[in-house]
Amino acid sequence: MRRDSEEPSGNPLRDPQDRRLPRIAGPCGLVIFGVTGDLSRKKLMPAVYDLANRGLLPPGFALVGFARRDWADQDFAQVVHESVKEHARTPFREETWKQLAEGFRFVQGDFDDDVAFDTLRKTIAELDVARGTSGNHAFYLSVPPKFFPNVVQQLKEHGLADSQGGAWRRVVIEKPFGHDLASAQELNRIVDEVFPTGSVFRIDHYLGKETVQNILALRFANQLFEPIWNANYVDHVQITMAEDVGIGGRAGYYDGIGAARDVIQNHLLQLLALTAMEEPVSFEAHALRTEKQKILSAVTLPDDLDLHSARGRYGAGWQGGIHVPGYLQEEGITRTSTTETFAALRVDVETRRWAGVPFYLRTGKRLGRRVTEIAVMFKRAPHLPFTSTATEELGANALVVRVQPDEGVTVRFGSKVPGTAMEVRDVTMDFAYGESFTESSPEAYERLILDVLLGDPPLFPRHEEVELSWQILDPVIEHWETLGAPETYAAGTWGPPSADEMLARDGRTWRRP
Ligand code: BG6
Repeated sequence: MRRDSEEPSGNPLRDPQDRRLPRIAGPCGLVIFGVTGDLSRKKLMPAVYDLANRGLLPPGFALVGFARRDWADQDFAQVVHESVKEHARTPFREETWKQLAEGFRFVQGDFDDDVAFDTLRKTIAELDVARGTSGNHAFYLSVPPKFFPNVVQQLKEHGLADSQGGAWRRVVIEKPFGHDLASAQELNRIVDEVFPTGSVFRIDHYLGKETVQNILALRFANQLFEPIWNANYVDHVQITMAEDVGIGGRAGYYDGIGAARDVIQNHLLQLLALTAMEEPVSFEAHALRTEKQKILSAVTLPDDLDLHSARGRYGAGWQGGIHVPGYLQEEGITRTSTTETFAALRVDVETRRWAGVPFYLRTGKRLGRRVTEIAVMFKRAPHLPFTSTATEELGANALVVRVQPDEGVTVRFGSKVPGTAMEVRDVTMDFAYGESFTESSPEAYERLILDVLLGDPPLFPRHEEVELSWQILDPVIEHWETLGAPETYAAGTWGPPSADEMLARDGRTWRRP
């Protein structure tokens, strides 16, 4: 097993001089496996274009698509064109497109097709000459997880993983990284045998979101919040990732995976780690990941999972005035499926800072609206020098990081209602990205693809984090598997009654964002 340093030098987050310099990738190319998939069309190809449009890719950048379709380079270019027109964030510019499209190549083949991998090697060599990509290539595995080992092995056997003469080779792996601890460990072993640690980029696209990175700025660039960010002041934390959409055309991926594996194992536990971790000594990969890892190792589950977890599956219902089918009626789902589309879980973080402060995580599809937020709910003031009627409508103070949509931060506190009597009611103070900043936020995948090309790892979870997250979740999933079908909730509502009951038992309620 080879081990490279995890820390490429010159991290622009650290060096103040670097901050004014644009971060532009050097000569390189990107190979996408699974280029015909949804993720590639909706996110990856538009992100590549947006990066090019922002001048952050080298002029000779190359994009290679690898898939089974019988396409020529022009067919591939046409598909990228359509995806860019439909999904890119920045305006379509002919000059950008023309320059980028000259570096498009398509390689047709299966993942076990040796001839195709040989062709890929030749294509890359041709690009090194024609586009000056200098041997620097990243391989993006946007494929079903069962193919990860296969592709990684093929890259090794066809000499594609080896870098020569100062060039680099990197591998980017989409989630889900395994489906439990054992499979994640096995996958890590396979990947580690082929690529050095510093060349493996595991994607959790939530870490690429501006609002998620802002958790670090909010906590560690200000004096205001950190003194009260602990068990002395915080009653509990609610982390919600709610979607109004159903599974769309993703039955093949989603069934058998479910909400907990799809979202809690990665996005929500990463949000928890950023919310709960201690201040890292720097924002370099090693320091940041070490603090996240410490928190994940301190996460414990309640003894009785029946009381402190909930799962559900959407039934038919109304959403945005449209009648939508239930999960079991979705195309490609069998009637006997027991996959959950809603999951909620209480965890505790056994550290001095968080002792006694529950973290409630919930996620679901076909919920009331699309919203992701982290709500830090504070304890009530220990004493209220008012008449009891004056504070009847006063809730607890809250600080809410609005991850999406409507990105920003809200602080909720009590304020006097204008009038002759002392009456206190909740009000909110808001920071909204749209009002404070003129530039729109880059898409998560823009940031993450750029970081891969720059070799900048802080925003990619390390394998220990992935394994710890499975270690947290495995007992919950195993427990649920003994219970049969999940409870049904109507589409457009906020999940099954058991989720509300779970919080009510602790004397709390979920926020209705
Ligand atoms: C993905 C999940 O990781 O995140 C999807 O696999 C989910 O099921 C998606 O829809 C949501 O991402 P976002 O960025 O729209 O919140």
